Amino acid sequence: MVFGFVAASAVASDADKIVGPNACAECHKQEVEAWKGSHHFKTYREMPRNTKANEIAEKMGVRRIRTESLCATCHYTVEQKGNQKKPIAGISCESCHGGGKDWIKVHSEFSGKTILFESKAEAAARWKLSESKGMLRPRSFYLLAKNCYGCHVVPQEDLVNKGGHPAGSAFELVSWSQGEVRHSTWHSKGRDNVPASAARKRMLYLVGLGVELETGIRAIGRAKSRNLYAFEMAKRVDRARKQLAAAAKAAPNVPEIAKLVAYSYSAGLKLNNERTLTAAADGISKQLVLITEKYDGSTMSGLDGLVPGPEKYKGKVRKPDN
Ligand code: HEC
Ligand code: HEC
Ligand code: HEC
Ligand code: HEC
Repeated sequence: MVFGFVAASAVASDADKIVGPNACAECHKQEVEAWKGSHHFKTYREMPRNTKANEIAEKMGVRRIRTESLCATCHYTVEQKGNQKKPIAGISCESCHGGGKDWIKVHSEFSGKTILFESKAEAAARWKLSESKGMLRPRSFYLLAKNCYGCHVVPQEDLVNKGGHPAGSAFELVSWSQGEVRHSTWHSKGRDNVPASAARKRMLYLVGLGVELETGIRAIGRAKSRNLYAFEMAKRVDRARKQLAAAAKAAPNVPEIAKLVAYSYSAGLKLNNERTLTAAADGISKQLVLITEKYDGSTMSGLDGLVPGPEKYKGKVRKPDN
């Protein structure tokens, strides 16, 4: 499962936990339709035919883009079928919510009752069990952000320096989750594709920037050569910490933000500095977990002037058919 990524190096998804998007579609039709309009869906068909993809693959010695894990880890969902690993889709439900095999029944069966008869305590236990079986829920801001950035920072030096792959995306969690990726149709029973609330957007914004900082700092720690990759990562870190410094000023009632910034300046952004950089990234990680435990965004209205508005949302939001 992808959030096994842990910050920097892409770990292959847990192929034997994958059930595939068709299994989710049985109940989540509108969410699946929204996904079908996204680049995440289209990359399955389009990527192998793309000239640039073939150039990158050739430089990396990859002959079959879909089946070799170097590309498949980020561009596909790979399912274990017998003793074979088969790419079955682009970046699909389980690339973001975790391989479903062990939790698909648990999360959806209202503790063996109907929705009306399940107690609050039973529901809480059901979600806890689902999470323990690998489900990544929208409310887990930190894991969610780590998962996006695990792919979108492209924390692989060779792929960038040698393969000519882009050194990540101009990613920002609010604008990149609220456009074409948005599929919040479930809790409105398919009536609407609901944007994240103001409080939720503040959390996405803050935790997203923090994870960008953490991921970039770890990547510099592991970089081996004075080349494009290391420079791009250093630029990314510097940009993120400046944005966080502005956030710290805008929301002085959240002192943890200034701590994130302080950690980012506690280690030189240079090669051969892995130990200090990793310590800084670990410090940032701890603060981010603390932030998600202590806040829900409702007291962070100071950030509203910084959170990107709808004109910045990436791609087109799908309206559900009723
Ligand atoms: C048998 C029907 C069913 C299937 C199949 C199913 N789900 Fe669900 N899903 C539900 C129900 C019911 C809920 C809402 C439960 C609740 O609100 O208590 C839900 C809620 C969710 C949520 C929201 C969780 C939250 O924190 O509120 C996510 C994410 C999700 N499902 C993902 C998936 C994915 C991914 C798959 C495929 C691997 C899948 N589901 C397959 C019925 C299903
Ligand atoms: C760590 C995750 C990761 C890995 C591994 C990865 N990619 Fe990508 N790739 C991405 C992301 C994220 C983007 C989107 C970048 C953006 O926002 O422009 C992307 C974009 C691309 C593009 C579009 C680039 C462009 O200039 O338009 C191509 C082509 C591509 N990848 C090919 C490959 C190939 C071939 C491999 C294997 C050799 C590979 N990728 C491995 C994450 C990855
Ligand atoms: C790129 C990552 C990604 C992919 C792919 C993805 N999800 Fe999600 N999902 C999210 C995020 C992020 C949220 C929370 C949205 C927000 O914060 O606005 C979410 C929310 C949900 C919810 C709650 C919706 C609501 O109304 O509150 C359900 C259900 C869900 N996803 C199911 C699915 C299913 C089914 C698929 C596959 C068709 C899927 N997701 C694919 C990231 C993803
Ligand atoms: C498993 C790796 C992976 C994960 C996890 C992932 N992405 Fe992506 N994403 C990609 C790749 C690869 C592309 C480029 C696809 C292409 O165009 O070929 C992409 C493209 C996108 C695009 C379209 C960008 C454009 O150029 O228009 C958006 C928006 C996006 N991702 C948002 C998200 C968000 C938000 C999350 C987390 C909730 C997320 N992604 C998680 C790999 C991933």
